[in-house]
Amino acid sequence: MREKRQLVAGNWKMNGLLEDGRALARDLGRLARENPPPCELLVCPPATLLFVVGEILAGSGVALGAQDCHAAPKGAHTGDVSAPMLADLGCRYVILGHSERRSYHGESNEAVREKMVAAWEAGLAAILCVGEREEERASGRAFAVVKSQIQGSIAQSAAAPRLVLAYEPVWAIGTGLVPSMADISEMHAAIRPLLPSATRILYGGSVNPKNAAEILALSEVDGALVGGASLKAKDFMAIAGACR
Ligand code: PGA
Repeated sequence: MREKRQLVAGNWKMNGLLEDGRALARDLGRLARENPPPCELLVCPPATLLFVVGEILAGSGVALGAQDCHAAPKGAHTGDVSAPMLADLGCRYVILGHSERRSYHGESNEAVREKMVAAWEAGLAAILCVGEREEERASGRAFAVVKSQIQGSIAQSAAAPRLVLAYEPVWAIGTGLVPSMADISEMHAAIRPLLPSATRILYGGSVNPKNAAEILALSEVDGALVGGASLKAKDFMAIAGACR
């Protein structure tokens, strides 16, 4: 079987004013054109930058995604953004259930599942984030936690092209800590049977240009979800260049 193409996705989180977003998108577009990486590339800017970044990256081969969406297509939801609005701006992906949304916005598995259905109805692929906390890993519950997040968050009729899973141990996000390669491989292999066949499983949490090659060489790893290092065009492209 042909190997799945790896996906490197940048999660810009709540970073960037208009000028920063424009500059980063221009740099990314230029680097991607000069030296197309051996993987699929995606950036997920904050909602305020989607339009300008999408315009700049059009035709560059770098896809556009969002960081969250509401479960309803429209209506009285002050401050929220719907999946059809994201699709309208040219998004192809939306990150759902990121640990920062689960902790700071109290997002439950059920809420994530409803958003996933909304994303699919709008024609977006969902990047579902799951991952254990430090104390859960320390007490040997990492797999049980991740399994229950997967089983609770994935909507029915999930299929590979419209679902990507990102395994992001919460303790590795933004901390510079990364699990051992054996632990990453073990978790990815353990969750694969829980997912529709051919679903790509990304690793996320402190991926940087130094550790990317080792992580992306793991046969169980189908790409990376990158936070901090995605805010520097060169670093992000170096990570993408490390794909198999
Ligand atoms: P990080 O973030 O790369 O800064 O650790 C990853 C993420 O939150 O998706």
